[in-house]
Amino acid sequence: MSIQDTAERPGFRFSLYAPGTAGAADVEAQADRPLLFTPFRLRGVTFPNRVVIAPMQMYVAGPDGLATDWHLQHLGKYAVGGAGTVMTEALIVDPRGRNTYGDLGIWSDDHVAPLARIAGFIAAQGAVPAAQLHHAGPKSSRQRPWEGLGPLGAAEAAKGEPPWQPVSVSEQSSVAGWHRPHCLTSEEIAGIVAAYGQGARRAAEAGFRVLDIHAAHGYLIHSFLSPISNDRTDRYGGSLENRMRLAVEIARSVRGHWPDDRPLFFRLSCVDRMEGGWQIEDSVVLARALRAEGVDLIDCSSGGIRAENSGMDFVRKRQPLRRGHQVPYADQIRREAEMPTMAVGVILDGPQAEAILQAGKADLIAIGRAALFDPHWAVHAAHQLRADPKWQMWPPSYGWWLELRERTGVED
Ligand SMILES: Cc1cc2nc3c(=O)[nH]c(=O)nc-3n(C[C@H](O)[C@H](O)[C@H](O)COP(=O)(O)O)c2cc1C
Repeated sequence: MSIQDTAERPGFRFSLYAPGTAGAADVEAQADRPLLFTPFRLRGVTFPNRVVIAPMQMYVAGPDGLATDWHLQHLGKYAVGGAGTVMTEALIVDPRGRNTYGDLGIWSDDHVAPLARIAGFIAAQGAVPAAQLHHAGPKSSRQRPWEGLGPLGAAEAAKGEPPWQPVSVSEQSSVAGWHRPHCLTSEEIAGIVAAYGQGARRAAEAGFRVLDIHAAHGYLIHSFLSPISNDRTDRYGGSLENRMRLAVEIARSVRGHWPDDRPLFFRLSCVDRMEGGWQIEDSVVLARALRAEGVDLIDCSSGGIRAENSGMDFVRKRQPLRRGHQVPYADQIRREAEMPTMAVGVILDGPQAEAILQAGKADLIAIGRAALFDPHWAVHAAHQLRADPKWQMWPPSYGWWLELRERTGVED
């Protein structure tokens, strides 16, 4: 397969493999590789392969949301494990938007130095350091998952973690029994939009090369998008255009503080999976509006606007999640909004990921829990797909020995 074949393959017109662009030489040398291990370029960033470690909150931040050695080893090991891009967990842009006291922050300049250490380590392994910006909105002020995920109360207050009032699109709680949120005024909304811009500035200063805005799973931005939760009558409620306003304003604010040569991703719950909720057609309209604001890729998730349609609820009810269940959203947005997408959700192995890319359904593949289970997911997938016969994707301190072991053979 030549570079030109790759560029012209139906559905791959966004893979900017035109000869002469940076990264083209890599592609030429690797033309027979599986797509999963073929570079991808957006703006000034060449992703060495299509594997992205999905954002995953650990809920173990140090005081005031500071990153610690835990986060360095947690994220660092995925870069050592061959992922092309390693994304941080959701970084909180405003302390009232924390899910829990364990969330990592980016609401102050003090957060930059420990995050820069992590971004630097990831980049030094040859991977692209990425960060996610977040405000939990109605889902703020709650217990860590393993503590029950309920609202903070007297027991947590006694341990030094008192509850606070969440802010949201309205006064509706997203889950019965959770704290009643404060309904944001337009002036307060403007403050949050500005906080996202400052978060982007700090992420750039910390050395991240990609930014993802978390607008999924029932959190603040999603609560404005969905007709299930948005009952406002001002310019942020009612029509689709009004419900999209906060998302568009945040994208504009972030783009204004995020360097032009660095890609901007946007994570959507592409559907609410509820009668009368946000639909895939709405996601296509929003994706086009975001593209006009300088968003480069839609990161395609789903659900979460109410407890009964969230991933956690599937887990609680032991309802199995289908392999690749969100891939059709990445496919439709890619075709209809004509922009790159990232597929995520129960993508378990190299052949499955490769089939999604070969079918032109997404440009990048995000791996979450499969990477918790196997931090070397990417190099193992490369092995499965025979993309790394000489063990060169491994750090030489490992790869040299493993290649030698393979050549020598092992007897029972
Ligand atoms: C421990 C954990 C923490 C998560 N935290 C985040 C997060 O910070 N931001 C986000 O957008 N999604 C978060 N998610 C969702 C994942 O990014 C991903 O979309 C989801 O796990 C589905 O992918 P998987 O089947 O590969 O795990 C989290 C998931 C897990 C398992």
